[in-house]
Amino acid sequence: MKDKILRKFAEVFGDAEGAKVYFAPGRVNLIGEHTDYNGGHVFPCALTIGTYGVARKRKDNRLLFYSTNFEQLGVLESSLEDLVPSREADWTNYPKGVIWAFGEKGMKVSGGMDLLLSGNIPNGSGLSSSASVEVLTGFILRDLFGFEVSNQDLALIGQYSENQFNKVNCGIMDQFAIAMGKKDNAIFLDTADLSYEYAPIALQGAKIVIACSNKKRGLGDSKYNERRSECETALSELQQAVKVRTLGELDEETFEKYQAAIGSDVRRKRAKHAVYENQRTVRAVEALKANDVAEFGRLMNASHVSLRDDYEVTGIELDTLVEEAWKVEGVIGSRMTGAGFGGCTVSIVKDEAIDTFIETVGAAYKEKIGYAADFYVVEIGDGPRVL
Ligand code: GLA
Repeated sequence: MKDKILRKFAEVFGDAEGAKVYFAPGRVNLIGEHTDYNGGHVFPCALTIGTYGVARKRKDNRLLFYSTNFEQLGVLESSLEDLVPSREADWTNYPKGVIWAFGEKGMKVSGGMDLLLSGNIPNGSGLSSSASVEVLTGFILRDLFGFEVSNQDLALIGQYSENQFNKVNCGIMDQFAIAMGKKDNAIFLDTADLSYEYAPIALQGAKIVIACSNKKRGLGDSKYNERRSECETALSELQQAVKVRTLGELDEETFEKYQAAIGSDVRRKRAKHAVYENQRTVRAVEALKANDVAEFGRLMNASHVSLRDDYEVTGIELDTLVEEAWKVEGVIGSRMTGAGFGGCTVSIVKDEAIDTFIETVGAAYKEKIGYAADFYVVEIGDGPRVL
């Protein structure tokens, strides 16, 4: 891969002298969905698939971007004087946003660069190709310009750029999972204070299988921001009745006691999901630590039901993938992952059942939805690095 993209860089930018090669992973969330902006817990892991980047500094202030995933766009040019989002800038709004965010945080990038990206995360799949690009860009800036910034800060800067520059109100999960990724471990993160712990994922005879619905979605045009504000309103209604800072601070019992303070059924369902999902996540990690993978799987299934019925972010594509998965013997757990409304599901499937799983779920999906899903047996990988 390294030689291949160095050659591509030379083809696009004339030569590859002084260019360095980098990688940042994608991520999948095992459980804890739509809890990260509610002060709850999440349990994602970095993948071995992700975004490769080749970069070098320039002597002027120009920023030249090229992606093998969007070859038809050719080289997209910007400059350090032009760090504003625009429609024409297309995917380069992500690296531009991070360069801008570094400046906002007192780390002004002092010169231009040539940057070539090449990702093997399916675009728009919900495996965080955009957060991968953000963390990768931050990692490259740190390396090229010598900024002193921790990986955790790279995650926060990535999120800041996505919120402020690209106007998607995402939480911290994706950037954190990518910047802090550790091979064979998932990250049990408390988004209330960013305390975290690595949990080894030893699935004893089973693997993580991702099914991509191929229904494209972008967070910006989805109902993501709407869900977020429904939760915020529900929280402020609850605060009239109980002293609480986030939905993540509530357990099920306390929620049930005060839920009548929420002024609409829809908002009550949204808040219920946030509270119960957070508790499920805590319990799922306990189950995993106790080697109870079956219980972990049951909690994954319950997570999907809650996302389908209470949070209403699934849709026929994700529901079909998950409900068909549940029918297959050897499936320990299956749920949608990421923001929802399309994107992917994550399943834990026993080794001997993987072929049948892909075959039968794939066929049922095609039959019902009319186009094919893609399946990936994935491995948990490390965070960003120089190659
Ligand atoms: C997207 C966001 C995350 C998180 C998930 C839902 O991936 O970027 O911050 O909110 O959706 O769990």
